[in-house]
Amino acid sequence: MNIKEFISTKGELINEALDRYLPEEKPEELHQAMRYSVLAGGKRLRPILTLVAAQLVGEDEEKVLPAACALELVHNYSLIHDDLPCMDDDEIRRGKPTNHMVFGEGMAVLAGDALLTYAFELLAKIDDLPAERVLLATSKLAEAAGKQGMVGGQVADILAEGKEIDKEELEYIHTHKTGALLEAAVSMGAILAGASKKELTALQEYAQGIGLAFQIVDDILDIEGDAEKIGKDVGSDLERDKATFPAVYGLERSKEMAAKNCYQAKKAISIFGDQAEVLSELADYIIEREY
Ligand code: IPE
Ligand code: IPE
Ligand code: MG
Ligand code: MG
Ligand code: MG
Repeated sequence: MNIKEFISTKGELINEALDRYLPEEKPEELHQAMRYSVLAGGKRLRPILTLVAAQLVGEDEEKVLPAACALELVHNYSLIHDDLPCMDDDEIRRGKPTNHMVFGEGMAVLAGDALLTYAFELLAKIDDLPAERVLLATSKLAEAAGKQGMVGGQVADILAEGKEIDKEELEYIHTHKTGALLEAAVSMGAILAGASKKELTALQEYAQGIGLAFQIVDDILDIEGDAEKIGKDVGSDLERDKATFPAVYGLERSKEMAAKNCYQAKKAISIFGDQAEVLSELADYIIEREY
């Protein structure tokens, strides 16, 4: 199985679980809005990383599936809010009109809120893994998603709009708004599987590398990508004068930096030997992807 087939197979597993977790009952309007965004597609890269990290450390992927889905729900909430007129003001996501375009801003805000809280409900209800691992994974996600993680990065991102920023601030934005959740994805899988300190450290270093590379590539795709393939409007960063790697370093240097971070990520997991092959291929996929 090549890496694209692997992603598609695991993505199906995640999609089925998400469909099961998200009800259609009352309040129907809210549930409809939540399901609309979550089930609109998406690469499912974060939950896949959770499954792969857990398996690498020696846990059954079935057992970490709720945690993997919780992470994807947090990611989806972040996308719904990121697209709002008061944030990036985008109209297309995953090839479809953004949540607020369909359900209105109020419902989009609430759908995001409900996805975020529901994620923690799913985590708290995991009862077939040691409670201390669940607690640690839960606090990891809360930290990664919160004020000094993803939200912190989003704050820096909107404050940087239209301003000249230095390289340090740019890296802060990217490692926080995007890197934090990717790191949580890998760490949660490892923690729930009972990783040793050495394993966790290696996996976190890997995740930091792919996290930064991922957002650099996202910035590049906003310039060079095919709108049809990425399922988002291109040029949206330029339009809003966003702090991006291409804006600060130029396209060529940005590509080199993405590749360098990918290389470092792969080096970090060498302690796992051949077992880390899937994670290595996922790192390569992140920089070679067209959407
Ligand atoms: C988009 O994430 C937002 C960023 C953090 C760059 P993805 O590119 O993973 O979006 P989906 O989930 O595949 O739609
Ligand atoms: C998004 O960064 C990061 C989060 C949603 C937390 P972007 O604003 O670049 O993501 P896209 O390009 O809209 O997917
Ligand atoms: Mg944004
Ligand atoms: Mg955006
Ligand atoms: Mg972007």
